[in-house]
Amino acid sequence: MIDQSTIDRIFAAADIVDVVSDFVTLRRQGANYQACCPFHTEKTPSFVVSPAKGVFKCFGCGKGGNVVSFVMEHEGMGYVDALKYLGRKYGIEIQEKERTAEEIKRNDDRESMMVLNGWAADYFKNALTQTQEGRNVGLSYFRERGFTEATIEKFGLGYCPSGYDTFSKAALAAGYKEEFLLGTGLSFKRDGHDSLTDRFYERVMFPIHTVSGRVLAFGGRTLKTEKTVAKYKNSPESEIYQKRMTLYGLFFAKKAISQLKCAILVEGYTDVISMHQAGVENVVASSGTALTSEQVRLLKRFTENITVMYDGDAAGLKASLRGIDIILKEGMNVRIVQLPPEHDPDSFAKTHTAAEVQEYIRSKEEDFITFKCKLLMADSAGDVQARSGVIRDVVGSIAEIPDTITRAMYAKECAAIMDVDENLLIGEVAKLRAGLSGDAEEREFFERQRRQKMHEAAETLQASSSAPSGTAIGSSIAELEKELTRYLICYGHQKFHLREGNQLNEYNVAQTIVDMMRTVICFDFQTPAYKAIFDCYAAHMAELGVGVEVPASYFINYPSAEVAEAAVDLLTMGDNYIPSKLWSEHDIGVASEADRLSEALPRAIMLYKSKVIERLSAEFQAQLNNPDIDEDTQLDIVGKLRALNNERKEIAHQLKRLIL
Ligand code: CTP
Ligand code: MN
Repeated sequence: MIDQSTIDRIFAAADIVDVVSDFVTLRRQGANYQACCPFHTEKTPSFVVSPAKGVFKCFGCGKGGNVVSFVMEHEGMGYVDALKYLGRKYGIEIQEKERTAEEIKRNDDRESMMVLNGWAADYFKNALTQTQEGRNVGLSYFRERGFTEATIEKFGLGYCPSGYDTFSKAALAAGYKEEFLLGTGLSFKRDGHDSLTDRFYERVMFPIHTVSGRVLAFGGRTLKTEKTVAKYKNSPESEIYQKRMTLYGLFFAKKAISQLKCAILVEGYTDVISMHQAGVENVVASSGTALTSEQVRLLKRFTENITVMYDGDAAGLKASLRGIDIILKEGMNVRIVQLPPEHDPDSFAKTHTAAEVQEYIRSKEEDFITFKCKLLMADSAGDVQARSGVIRDVVGSIAEIPDTITRAMYAKECAAIMDVDENLLIGEVAKLRAGLSGDAEEREFFERQRRQKMHEAAETLQASSSAPSGTAIGSSIAELEKELTRYLICYGHQKFHLREGNQLNEYNVAQTIVDMMRTVICFDFQTPAYKAIFDCYAAHMAELGVGVEVPASYFINYPSAEVAEAAVDLLTMGDNYIPSKLWSEHDIGVASEADRLSEALPRAIMLYKSKVIERLSAEFQAQLNNPDIDEDTQLDIVGKLRALNNERKEIAHQLKRLIL
């Protein structure tokens, strides 16, 4: 249906990092990019995109492929629709034959419903601006609310005409099937009637978009003021639309959310639109209902930071507080900002400039747990019964936080606010958590630590000064540094292969080692000679390019005797290599060392990183215990500890694959 040259052009134009970034915020990790996998739920990122290879791969769930398969998988599209999607994105015109009746029939229901919604959105848009009724009723309403033409256009706002079946008739006439009009809920049948009725007649229309910008549902607002008429009608749940999985405005907000590293959560359609119009674009709405964990996870693809914006009147506030625990549970950082009493986000955005709105948020936003703690305390002043309820409530929120260090911080802070013993609070949180599912990865990590220690004892017996340590599990930092430096100068220019899922991927040895040293925590080798060799090699690689051999003589003749000696030592020690017990234990055939690189290198890297993290964590923890440090330093250290902790979990996860 699409000719090969067009397909080739699409593949040439589509940048996998760019395409995937429309759905997930990618973080640079050496030559690759990382994120939490959009195809399954996970807490530490195992989803990797390689721009050089044009592939994505999740080490958690195993999904992987190229740019087109990503779109197919993520959007539930067929091959042709995925190509069209990319064609649209990159402005490549697709020459296509008219679809035959048969081909239309073959198109699956889901796609038919999406196509119908797309057509309906155009129809409503047209009815708003191109018909007398639409202009008089719908457009004048939007204008009165202060929406500009550009805003109306951007959000695809529309109008569904009067007449009860004007829309349905037009859709049928355009060839859309009754089945899908009913399926999408755009039309319905009144009891005892066979003809279609429009769900949204005489309403202004707010299309609801997928993350990639296709219309999957509508909200329709009445212009009547009678209390008996529902203010909003929404598309019913269907094959394509589940309210709990959708955030209104995410398509328009995702870029700003990614850039600003924060999302603002509001309640309604008009809140989102007015904030955008005011120039604050990192805003999404839960559409009136309590926030769901699916919505939070969707948001988490783009940021970990969320600011909940509440109407000035505190009416629904306390009821909503409990909903926020869902955000905590997903490991997000939640802040809350309360608007002045007379405002909702819509009215506030309309009466303030973008700078004012942003400044207001910046100066007024408060950490959620402490906010809740203070609010409830003020509320229960003097009432002992109520107060113990508050403590239980706050303990419940803290217990939802997945990260240990963050939990401890909050326990400390809230204990102070509520004037209760910190240890008591920590005890209560611990009790609650024991009942929760617990942190499996954390347990796994400690279990692995224990096993490492056992191996360590066995390996020391084995170690002899003449044999390289290989990548014995119990190796010390210094031994691992030696091992990695040896790989660098002996095999730095070579490639090694990693089987990832059912693909065999190729990596450069030196590049991999250099990348490792430049991740989350930037660190240096401790042994001066190894550090010198590393720096030297990295500088050469930067200048000459990846894969160019740095001759051994360069290091052997190095001006510093210490470095030259170390180089000679490293370059000769492989010759009389004795396999460590571990290799035979794991039944790994002892081929030449170069052949083993694909096993040995990743293992050495992981072990080395885990050692360094262990040491750094202990150092930071010790600093934290110093009573003299100021609050800023303390927060700084806690931030570092958290980063280390995440990295540590990731390594535990990867070591599991490499060792067990
Ligand atoms: N909502 C809904 N169905 C309703 C009422 C509300 O889906 N019957 C959702 C809509 O997404 C709405 C949000 O809840 O945007 C907030 O409701 P509300 O505050 O009543 O509406 P506003 O967005 O403030 O709309 P307006 O400013 O036009 O009154
Ligand atoms: Mn409103």
